[in-house]
Amino acid sequence: MTTPTGIGLGLRAAFIERVERGEADGKVAFLELSPENYMHRGGPAPRRLGAISERFDIITHGLMMSLGGVDPFDDEYFRELRSFLDRHRSPWHSDHLCWCGFDGALLHDLLPIPFDTGTAIRVADRVRAAQDRLGRPMAVENISWYLELGRGQRDEPEFVAEVLERADCLLMLDVNNVFVNSRNHGFDPYTWLAKVPLERVVQLHVAGHELWDDTLIIDTHGADVRNEVYDMLAWVIERVGPKPVVLERDSNIPPFAQLLDEVAAVDRVYQDALGRWHANQLVAKHGS
Ligand SMILES: [Fe+2]
Repeated sequence: MTTPTGIGLGLRAAFIERVERGEADGKVAFLELSPENYMHRGGPAPRRLGAISERFDIITHGLMMSLGGVDPFDDEYFRELRSFLDRHRSPWHSDHLCWCGFDGALLHDLLPIPFDTGTAIRVADRVRAAQDRLGRPMAVENISWYLELGRGQRDEPEFVAEVLERADCLLMLDVNNVFVNSRNHGFDPYTWLAKVPLERVVQLHVAGHELWDDTLIIDTHGADVRNEVYDMLAWVIERVGPKPVVLERDSNIPPFAQLLDEVAAVDRVYQDALGRWHANQLVAKHGS
């Protein structure tokens, strides 16, 4: 299994043909894909994906595990998922710190969970079970949430930290989600970042968001990455060093060349921050 670093792209149907034609070669460090979009698919999809994964390292990012849910895990889903991850040599698998289904019904939304110890214990047990079933580490992603489920005992970063410690799992840190929540719920995003165990960060997401009105930002993945989010990415990379960073784009997808330009822009921010991380490493080793 390989562990890519640098800037990757979330693979989407809108530009998969461009990727097949080699237009992303040398411009994208790896691809992130959601297994649920390809599992149970007949026709040419598995062969096409197989050819792409021969040329790119693949990291998988799930949408349906419902780690915060209460339904028992679906054995068939996990069997299929493990076989998909093995086939594409995914070094770890990520999914969201949320619930997205109840009583067998899938809600196609990432819904928040209460930030309390009881929930952290329950979610951590599910993350451990998922790691056992998948035979690889799990990374949990902090979500954008628009509704606070009562006043929890903890704030979100404390809750995230508690889940990570109890499950002994990894963090898929979405800096755009932190920024969106910070604006919608009125907190300092850097205080949030400083409270989570950065040593558990295995991968990052960046994306764009849109203003719904003067009071609400929606995490649409439908706009360019904002400077504030670039600054947060740089802050994290300066502290954690080389990691895979995924640019997520799900709506208003621009022409592919323009999307690759944005990958290059993320890479410039990443490389600058990495330079500062290297300098800090040297100072720590040899003194200033
Ligand atoms: Fe994300």
